[in-house]
Amino acid sequence: VTQHPHVRTIDWDGDAVVIIDQTALPHRVEMLRLTTVDALCDAIARLAVRGAPALGVAGALGVALAARNTHAHNNNGATFEAAVQRDAARIAAVRPTAVNLAWGVTQTLAHRDKGAPAIIEAAQALLEAEAESTRALSHRGADLLDSLHTGQHRILTHCNAGALACVDWGTALGVVRAAHERNHLAHVICTETRPLLQGARLTAWELARMGAPHTLVIDSAAALVIARGMVDAVVVGADRIAANGDVVNKIGTYPHALAAHRAGIPFIVAAPESTIDATTPTGNDVEIEERGDGEVIHWRGWHTAPEETAVFNPAFDVTPAELVTAIVTERRVIRP
Ligand code: MRU
Repeated sequence: VTQHPHVRTIDWDGDAVVIIDQTALPHRVEMLRLTTVDALCDAIARLAVRGAPALGVAGALGVALAARNTHAHNNNGATFEAAVQRDAARIAAVRPTAVNLAWGVTQTLAHRDKGAPAIIEAAQALLEAEAESTRALSHRGADLLDSLHTGQHRILTHCNAGALACVDWGTALGVVRAAHERNHLAHVICTETRPLLQGARLTAWELARMGAPHTLVIDSAAALVIARGMVDAVVVGADRIAANGDVVNKIGTYPHALAAHRAGIPFIVAAPESTIDATTPTGNDVEIEERGDGEVIHWRGWHTAPEETAVFNPAFDVTPAELVTAIVTERRVIRP
C-alpha cells in the first residue's frame, strides 16, 4: 500500500477539478487534473471518480468548470447561461442511477444567472457541505452501531463507500472509521465487488490505510459469513434512496440484505440526505445503469469467458425497505 499525504478524493484548484484516479488504485496513487467538461465526463464514465457523494460533487464542480471555461470565451449573459446549461445536461446524463450526480448539477446550475464566480463559489460550498455531512453521518452511524450491539463490532460492507466515494470520511466506511477511532471496531469483512472490484481495490486499501483489521471475501462468500455468525451488522452506502425507503446500491447489496434478515442482524444504510430522492416513489422506478459486457468477459486484457457470450451487467440493485433496519444520514436515523 502506497502511503500518501491526506488528499481529498475530489477538489477544485481554482481552475480545474482535481481527482484521485480510482482506476489506478491500489497500485498507484495518481491525481488527475480535469480542465474540460469532456475530460470530467470521461472520468465519471470510466469510474476514475465514483461513489454517490463524490459524483454529486463532480456534478457541482463540473458546472463550475463549464462556467469557468465559458466565461473565459464569452461574456454575453444569455449565451453564457445556455452554454453552461448544455454542459450541465451532458454531465448529469453520464451515469443515471446515483441521484447525487444530477442533484449536484441542479444545485449549482441554479446559480447560472449570477455569472461564473458565483457558480464556482456555489460548487465549492456544496463540496464543503458534503464533506461535513459525511463526517456527521459517520459519527451518527457509529452511535447507532453502539446502540444496536454491545462490545466491539464486526462489520460486513460491500463495494466502496469510503473517503474515495465521497470528498472525505465516507458513508459506510465513515461509520467504520468512526467506530475504529472509538476503539469499538473489531473487524471488517469487505466484499470483492464484481465486476470492477471496488471492494478489493479500494475498500481494502482504505481499511489498510486506517489501520483497521479487515478480511477480503468474494461476493458469493458473504451469505456464509453472515449465516456463520462472523459479523454483527452489515453497513453499506447508497446511490439513491426512494421515497418509500427502498435502497439502490452496488449490485450484490440485495443478497447481503437477504442474508442479514435471515440471520437477524442489522442491515444499516449510511448516506447523506442528498442521496434521498423524494421524487422517486420506489426502487422499481429507478433507472439501473447497465455497463458494457467487456467488464464481465475481459479482465485487463484477459478473456474470462468466450468472446461471444451474452452478458447482462447491471451496476446496481434494489434492496426493499422492509429489509433495511435503519438509514443514517447527517441529520437523522430513519427506520423504514
Ligand atoms: O459504481 P460505483 O462504484 O460508483 O458504485 C458505488 C456504490 O454503489 C456505493 O456503494 C455508493 O455510491 C455509496 S458511496 C458512499
